[in-house]
Order: sequence, then structure tokens, then C-alpha cells
Amino acid sequence: MTGVRIVGVGHHVPERIVSNHDLEQWLDTSDEWITSRTGMKRRHWTSENEATSDLAIAAARNALAQAELDPNEIDAYIVCTVYPDYLFPATAAIVASALGAVDKSAFDMEIGCSGFIYGLTVAASLVRSGVYRRVMMIGAETLSKMVDKTDRSTAILFGDGAGAVILEASEVDSFLSSELGSDGSRPEILRIAAGGSRYPTTHELIDEKKDRIFMAGREVFKFAVTKMIDATDKALAKAHVSKSDVDLLIPHQANKRIIDAAMKYLEIPPERCVVNIHEYGNTSAASIPIALSEALSEGRVKPGDTIVFVGFGAGLSWGAVVWKWQ
Ligand code: ACO
Repeated sequence: MTGVRIVGVGHHVPERIVSNHDLEQWLDTSDEWITSRTGMKRRHWTSENEATSDLAIAAARNALAQAELDPNEIDAYIVCTVYPDYLFPATAAIVASALGAVDKSAFDMEIGCSGFIYGLTVAASLVRSGVYRRVMMIGAETLSKMVDKTDRSTAILFGDGAGAVILEASEVDSFLSSELGSDGSRPEILRIAAGGSRYPTTHELIDEKKDRIFMAGREVFKFAVTKMIDATDKALAKAHVSKSDVDLLIPHQANKRIIDAAMKYLEIPPERCVVNIHEYGNTSAASIPIALSEALSEGRVKPGDTIVFVGFGAGLSWGAVVWKWQ
């Protein structure tokens, strides 16, 4: 088995910024409520003519530029998203072709906000097993298009964006461990009910807003804190790394209170945790790679650092990856 490391990281968010004060214009909410309950101040939303692949392509270009690689030097493209351009074909195929890559393997993964953790595990495994030399893994989401913008309990939470990482075979191995899990027994607490084979879209379902995100916020909150802690503990144990040896924790950005509660239990101080939720809100599978990309630009990631990526989301699903930065 070979090793794997990340050789390029990039992100992209739409230009349009929607602040808490903007949301106050049409929702019965306030900057004070949103800030104190979630930590969010702004989020970036796509315009009508921007799709998930547009964000993914821009993030991928930034990662390719950082790695100084041509799109054809990447063997496989993976896009993790809950809102692909189409039900089929795969958004990853659209992205690869738009970048100029020819005849490459390309597929999507749909694991909600845990997308980056699952995607990184799959991409790293493809490289470590020798199937591919280089894999581009992109988390890209346009959740602003999936929310009911008149529902204050969800419309305030989500933002759009994309983050991309390029993984490459290497003598040193960055991948120390992965812990993944799921519980599909209660899909109704976080889902879009209509539009799939269970409830194909009808006018009635659209009128009932069943084609929009529904979330039982309090239940998801409790699950999120528990699973972030549990997945991190288990991934660290598998990697034989103690909490005190974690240099940086990059969590999914769903709620600052969820992050704070988990960090408190894990005894990770704020300076060792990346939080950018105030700027982007919850961008689902894109949140961790966007945070990684920003942390790198800010000089917060150094060679030899032990990083924990941890996320949770629809499924319900959760996971953590322990990564040695090379
Ligand atoms: N502005 C003002 N008041 C609001 C708003 C708002 N935007 N939204 C809800 N409220 C009200 C509610 O109506 C309720 O009022 P009531 O007490 O009169 O009934 C009150 O505020 C409290 O509501 P809660 O839902 O209990 O508020 P909570 O503190 O739990 O915060 C939140 C809600 C932010 C959604 C939180 O539960 C949360 O973050 N949950 C987890 C979300 C998450 O992690 N999702 C991740 C996965 S997403 C994916 O995978 C696609």
C-alpha cells in the first residue's frame, strides 16, 4: 500500500452576500437571534443562473493552480453534494469535462453535511490502494436553492460554496484513520421528502413545500454534539493519537454552539479549532474544505500538524478523519 497526501486545496463562494440584517427584511427574525443561536452573521447565496457545478469548477481550478497540475493529470473526480446539477448525469462528470479533463473517472457522493469526511475517506482509499495516483475531491453545495426562504427555522442556516482538495500518492502517509457511521432509521428528522422515488414530485407536494429542507433542529442539535465527540474520540483512538496532540480541529460548520459544546468536551481550545461560520453559514459538504482552504491561507496549517476533520449531517450520518499534514 502507498501513502497519500493533499497537494492542492481551493475554494470558491458566490459573490452575493446575504447578511442577518438582509434576512430581517422578509423573515420574522433578528441579527441578535441568529448570532446568539448559531454564530452566523452572513452567508453567500448563488444567483439564479449559478449551479453546483459552477462553484465546484471554480474551487477545482483554484486547487489545480495551487498544485500546479493540469486537469488531465487527475485520474478521478468526485463531487460530494446534496444538490447536483441534475438527478443524472453526475455533477463530477460535468466538472471534469468543463475543466478540460478527458475520459476520466467521475462520480458523485450524496452524504449530506458528512460528505467531505466520507469523500476524503473514499478518495484517500482509492489512492492508498493504488487504484488511482491522483484524485480530486470536491464538496459543493447550493443549499440556498433547497430551503423554503419563508421558513425562518431553516432559511437562515444555509449558505452556498465549494471546496476542493487534490490527493496524490506519496511515500509519506497523511491518512491516519477514519471513523464513519450512519443511522437511517429516522430520515424524517432531516430531509427533503419530495422529488425521489418514495414521493415523486407532484404539484400538491410542491404546494406543501415537501420539496424543501425540513429539519427537527433540536433533535439534530443533540445528535450532532454527541456524534462529533464520539467520532473524534474513535478516530483518534484508531490513529493512536491523544487529544492533546491534535494541532488543529476542522469541524463541519453547522452551529457555533454545537462546535463549542464538542470542543469543550474534547478539551480543544479555540486557537486549535477553525471556525468561519460567521461568514458562510452551513455550506454542508463544502464547509470543511472551505475552512481548510482558509486555514492554509492564514498560515494556520504547518507541515507535520495533526488535523482532525469531523462532520455530521443528513442520513443521519457522521464521521471523523485524522490527517497528518505533509
Ligand atoms: N429567528 C427567530 N426565532 C426563531 C428562528 C429565527 N430564525 N428560528 C426559530 N425561532 C424560534 C422558534 O420558533 C422557537 O420559538 P418558540 O420557543 O416560541 O417555539 C425558538 O426560536 C426556539 O427554537 P429552537 O428550534 O428550539 O431553537 P434552537 O436554539 O434549537 O436553535 C437551530 C435552532 C439553530 C436550528 C438549532 O437547533 C440547530 O443548529 N440545530 C442543528 C442544525 C444542524 O446541525 N444541521 C446540520 C445538518 S444540515 C444537513 O445535513 C443538510
